Amino acid sequence: MKTSIAVVGAVGIVGAGAMGRGIAQIAAQAGFTVLLFDVQADAASKASQLIAEQWQKMLSKEKLSAEQYQRAVGNLQVVNSMQELAKCDLVVEAIVEKLEVKRALFQQLDGIVSDTCILATNTSSLSVTAIAAGTKIPERVAGLHFFNPVPLMKVVEVIDGLLTDAAVSEQLMAFSTQTGHLPVRAKDTPGFIVNHAGRGYGTEALRILQENVASFRQIDQIMREAAGFKLGPFELLDLTGLDVSHPVMEAIYHQYYEEPRYRPSVITAQRVHAGVLGRKTGRGFYSYSGNLDVPAV
Ligand code: NAI
Repeated sequence: MKTSIAVVGAVGIVGAGAMGRGIAQIAAQAGFTVLLFDVQADAASKASQLIAEQWQKMLSKEKLSAEQYQRAVGNLQVVNSMQELAKCDLVVEAIVEKLEVKRALFQQLDGIVSDTCILATNTSSLSVTAIAAGTKIPERVAGLHFFNPVPLMKVVEVIDGLLTDAAVSEQLMAFSTQTGHLPVRAKDTPGFIVNHAGRGYGTEALRILQENVASFRQIDQIMREAAGFKLGPFELLDLTGLDVSHPVMEAIYHQYYEEPRYRPSVITAQRVHAGVLGRKTGRGFYSYSGNLDVPAV
């Protein structure tokens, strides 16, 4: 089926956490009308305040002109009901990484937006095809996978589900380029490109740690200073948050039918149980708020 797809003008964002907030910022800065919604009372308005603070900083550093600042502020709106997303040409979801929750959201959006609206998921690890299945028009569903922090990380994966219409992915490529990002077209395979390649980086580093070959600090230092990565694997886990990365590891492992190469680590599982998630909780592998490091094994 060939889908009739609108050119993106107004963008709805569902989920105003770290990712939704970043996507809202870059889209509003690029001139799109952005409607930001979160199911948690006040989450979207808090996100909007944080975005405004970023723009203030950019204004004071002359990274935005006064006119660009005013325009960006005017482009961003917080909405209190999903019904208000009815006029959007593109809705990007950045909610919790759970297949059933994302599927339920898209089914709900089916009843709100027009048939020409694109539905995009920012999932890190779930099947875009599975999220699209059960929606009214699976051809209009695609992956749009930004990285954290969105304004700084320029790559974005545009993911074709099995039934995604090429016109939808092309619009998402164009949208990403307009926000100043670098879109890369990816197939809908577990972890897409970046998180598939990342298994070698993160999962293997956890194995090296578990086998007592080296400490997490040593591994980070070597990957930064000898291998040239900006962040070592444990610094990256702390930045992303284990509540996000551990389920990603599990999802990729299961989608590859328990392929041993991708087996998640008991180290991260235990830390998730303890709530030692990384920067967001003040301590992860490293300490961010004067707390002591939590021993790694
Ligand atoms: P987060 O936990 O910071 O934010 C999620 C937000 O979604 C919360 O404010 C929550 O209230 C809201 N939410 C949950 N269910 C909702 C619903 N049904 N309707 C509306 N709002 C809802 O999560 P984060 O880190 O922003 O991640 C969001 C998504 O982006 C996940 O799918 C994650 O896998 C993906 N992602 C995360 C990255 C990261 O480094 N944190 C990187 C790339 C993708």
